[in-house]
Amino acid sequence: MCGIVAYVGKQEALPIIIKGLKRLEYRGYDSAGVALLNENGLSIYKKKGKVSQLEDFLAQNQDIKSTIGIGHTRWATHGEPNDANAHPHYSSSENFAMIHNGIIENYEVLKTDLINKGYVFHSETDSEVFINFIEDVYKNNDCSIEEAVRLALHKVVGAYAIVIMHKEEPDTLIAARKGSPLVIGVGEDEYFLASDATPIIEYTNQVVYLDDYEIAVIRDNKLQIKTIENVETNPYINQLEMELEAIEKGGYEHFMLKEINEQPRSIADCMRGRLDAKNGRLVLGGLRDYMNKFQNADRIIIMACGTSWHAGLVAEYLFEEFARIPVEVEYASEFRYRNPVVSEKDFVIAISQSGETADTLAAIELAKSKGATIFGVCNVVGSSIPRATHAGSYTHAGPEIGVASTKAFTAQISVLTMMALMLGYQRGTLTESRYIQLLHELEAIPAKVEKALLMNDKVEKIAAQYKDARNFLYLGRGYNFPVALEGALKLKEISYIHAEGYPAAEMKHGPIALIDEEMPVVFIATKDSSYEKIVSNIQEVKARKGKVIAVVTEGDTQVKNMADHVIEIPETHEAFVPLLAVVPLQQLSYHIAVMRGCNVDQPRNLAKSVTVE
Ligand code: AGP
Ligand code: GLU
Repeated sequence: MCGIVAYVGKQEALPIIIKGLKRLEYRGYDSAGVALLNENGLSIYKKKGKVSQLEDFLAQNQDIKSTIGIGHTRWATHGEPNDANAHPHYSSSENFAMIHNGIIENYEVLKTDLINKGYVFHSETDSEVFINFIEDVYKNNDCSIEEAVRLALHKVVGAYAIVIMHKEEPDTLIAARKGSPLVIGVGEDEYFLASDATPIIEYTNQVVYLDDYEIAVIRDNKLQIKTIENVETNPYINQLEMELEAIEKGGYEHFMLKEINEQPRSIADCMRGRLDAKNGRLVLGGLRDYMNKFQNADRIIIMACGTSWHAGLVAEYLFEEFARIPVEVEYASEFRYRNPVVSEKDFVIAISQSGETADTLAAIELAKSKGATIFGVCNVVGSSIPRATHAGSYTHAGPEIGVASTKAFTAQISVLTMMALMLGYQRGTLTESRYIQLLHELEAIPAKVEKALLMNDKVEKIAAQYKDARNFLYLGRGYNFPVALEGALKLKEISYIHAEGYPAAEMKHGPIALIDEEMPVVFIATKDSSYEKIVSNIQEVKARKGKVIAVVTEGDTQVKNMADHVIEIPETHEAFVPLLAVVPLQQLSYHIAVMRGCNVDQPRNLAKSVTVE
């Protein structure tokens, strides 16, 4: 994972890099570092911990004025988080400095070879091997730096986004990518490089997305791109549409809280221009050319990880109910290591907030190689998955910075719901009148989410009561089963309380043994087709003295009489309940994590974009 930033131009590089690293900290926060080049040479400053710790360290140094530099915020893969393993890394001669995002799989072989040649290593990272290997190629080939990088890349196995500086070339940055993202911002007389566009947006909206196997050379204020086969390509300049305010906290204490509260708007943004219930219109531009394949597919396979996988589970219910096509939901990481049966009659949907998840990308490539049509549902515009798929629809939730996914989840479900309704209508499994009725109901969701958010104060009080619990159980049935899984994942990842999600009926097959007066059980018990059954499950928990927190439909009285706490959400069609029911669960995990003093936006050991396998 990790975030990388680089700058070359006329401004002072350090403040731009530091600000950029802070924006990318969601990608990893084990250590941070910068390399700067000025008349005193090529200097590296790096520190274990967050970018703010690097800032404190830099405050003690005077010699940091430079108009060129590279910076890194790390999520360790090779070697523990400490100062030595922090990036940038020098080459042995200290002529090169490099930042790297990714993993070099054959680093051990390369390292042994380099040690035999007399190279000395100061860290345990694969990245330090990488830069020394480049230096070795450079020394042995009497060539330019970019040529040395190009030749070296032919021998390197793994994933990388790298940016390199050389002591003798104060106007040059060399970058390359394979499997890890890299965006180049093109300003007036200046260039910015970063893992995503957020560090760039306030300086320029013109960006070039580097492709796999491409090398970018920025020298004397000119950008040149070539492939590792040495074929020059024409940089294609994209216009960024991101707003600066979208990546700032806007008065909220945490990004996660901001993002939870943004959901009425992000869901509306996702539906804007696509759904028009009054005129019975539902259009997803990305599906237009593939509608035929979609409609006639034998099977839909959904591939994703984590929260996106939960959105996929909701979609399974949606597609099967409305369009009557069989659906399989796969963990991308498992799918790729089986020998899955996939054919050209399969329609694959890959779901990913970041669009960079390595497991999902690899699963896509596998399904593609077997002839399936691949459709992406992603949030980050221009990321790798949308570029690896045949077609797709963006979720348009806006940048999600909190590591725990919230608004991206509801936007994913919104897109998938629209897809299911379109498909059902086209296939004739949904009658026109039901279709129109569902469109109206879906259109009403943003306002209902707004209402669901009003439970916040009540949820906060419940959080105060259970913040010290050691375990939580989340139970739901039907459409609410994935919501239970998502509620449990949110709590685990940000509060470090052990939590499990189960289909409520499965409780009696094992988890019921866990229930005692210490155990909070969160039920999603809205008025739907399995309401009576879930009411019985609540009774079963109460009979064993468990504490019941129930998310119920507004006006419910039956569960209210049994549960210790109820959280009401507005009524809607049962297929759309996940969009509302997940909201109080996001709030519950948020408040518990804050009360436990956890770092909500950057939980330990995690990173937002998982670009390692
Ligand atoms: C969500 O809260 C998690 N941090 C994580 O499970 C995430 O959903 C998963 O890593 C998939 O990411 P993606 O959607 O960017 O592919
Ligand atoms: N493999 C490198 C390391 O562990 C880079 C990891 C990253 O992408 O953050 O330092």
